[in-house]
Amino acid sequence: MIKVAPSILSADFANLQRDVQMAENAGADALHIDVMDGQFVPNLSFGMSTVADLRPVTSLMLDCHLMIMDPERFVGQFAKAGADLIGVHVESTRHIYHALQLIKDAGVKAEVVVNPGTPLSMISELLPLVDQVLIMTVNPGFGGQHFLDQMVAKIAALNELKQQHGYRFEIEVDGGINDQTVKACYDAGATVAVAGSYVYDSADPAQRIQDLKVATN
Ligand code: DX5
Ligand code: ZN
Repeated sequence: MIKVAPSILSADFANLQRDVQMAENAGADALHIDVMDGQFVPNLSFGMSTVADLRPVTSLMLDCHLMIMDPERFVGQFAKAGADLIGVHVESTRHIYHALQLIKDAGVKAEVVVNPGTPLSMISELLPLVDQVLIMTVNPGFGGQHFLDQMVAKIAALNELKQQHGYRFEIEVDGGINDQTVKACYDAGATVAVAGSYVYDSADPAQRIQDLKVATN
């Protein structure tokens, strides 16, 4: 059964606490927090103050996906705000190894993220260091996009490397996840699925969280 991390990007910001507590009560395993700077991706979202505000209202693991340039500038502040895991894009900094070291030094789980067009060879040196790898299954920036089927082979290739070397990292997928696409990801080796619009654009978001689990049972 896959772990589910609802993305608050598609939540109702006027009722964020309600939407987060719904996810927790429905059996979500983490909360996915999409941070965008309008530079790395063509959209803006929110920052560390949102993480700090959410920290006291949920015991869910806060999984912060930083879609920002030179994320090493901010990882300390996200850790202080209460992040449990911080994800940084390999494409977003000249010093990805250092960025991941900074995250670990802050006592937080470290994740490297790869865009659809980025080959796995770009992260091979980082695999012994990270707690989680996020394979983007859409181009980052917006919720509600279509799943890129080609990414299933990439997930399988990463899982192959993981097994070969005995790495322990989780494999997360993000973008276009629903009860159909989640199964292919899970079968290829994904262990955590992010879902935004599939959960929050539904009349019964709690059921949707369960549906993702049932689809991978
Ligand atoms: C996209 C974000 C995703 C987004 C996923 O840039 O990283 O986390 O919220 O949304 P859905 O599940 O609607 O594709
Ligand atoms: Zn995300």
